[in-house]
Amino acid sequence: MGKGIALAVRGAGATSPVGEQRRSAAVATPAARKRRPLSFWLKPPLFLFCLLPLASLGWDAWQGALGANPIEAITHRTGDWALRFLLITLAVTPLMRLARWSLPGRFRRMLGLYAFFYAVLHFATYLVLDQFFDWAAIGDDIVKRPYITVGFAAFVMLLPLAVTSTNGMIRRLGGRRWKALHRLVYAIAVLAVLHYLWLVKADYREPAAYAAVLALLLGLRIWWGLRRRV
Ligand code: HEM
Repeated sequence: MGKGIALAVRGAGATSPVGEQRRSAAVATPAARKRRPLSFWLKPPLFLFCLLPLASLGWDAWQGALGANPIEAITHRTGDWALRFLLITLAVTPLMRLARWSLPGRFRRMLGLYAFFYAVLHFATYLVLDQFFDWAAIGDDIVKRPYITVGFAAFVMLLPLAVTSTNGMIRRLGGRRWKALHRLVYAIAVLAVLHYLWLVKADYREPAAYAAVLALLLGLRIWWGLRRRV
């Protein structure tokens, strides 16, 4: 590995939440505070940008432009964005490695939390608007409808990742255990894609496209993992 790549990869590693948490204690001097990194300035606009799908949904609801079945439209759009943010989060590491660019790593936590945020909205739509807290029907759905079973499993698995996303939790768990726990995101993404493939009745093009993106993202990781061992 050339020096440039080694530095980029090492730099990329340093931008994981574990590295960020380790570094945060060290950069609190007044001089360091004056020289804010680029990511510091980019985070607020990115945060607002990630809210656009919700704003667009709210706007369409306000305009009465959600079609004949607004609940279905909300379920679909929040589900779509939960999955997209999951895949975007998973794309951060490959992007950093392939482009030798460490900046995206600074936004990974935010992007992952947005995946969780849209998944919460998606689940809440199902729970409140679709089922109206009919626990018996919800339990029935989870047990009897495979696409709900896997969607629910993906959602439940996202919970510990969201809860442990803070610097305090990283410190408490320790970097190794935190990383091991956060590998759950791969299984979550597979379940989320399965959830979509399973619920589609005729046109498989969209879920198949997500499945292809996920296969590429996971394939790259497997390939890099195998090369490291050789
Ligand atoms: C990480 C968690 C989840 C992700 C990423 C996800 C993603 C998706 C996606 C992409 C769709 C299809 C949207 C479209 O057709 O455009 C969808 C639909 C749906 N999801 Fe999820 N989902 C998740 C969890 C759940 C959970 C926990 C439930 C309920 C228990 C659920 C219930 C539904 C329902 C009812 C639909 C619509 C089905 C239909 O149109 O017949 N999802 N979800």
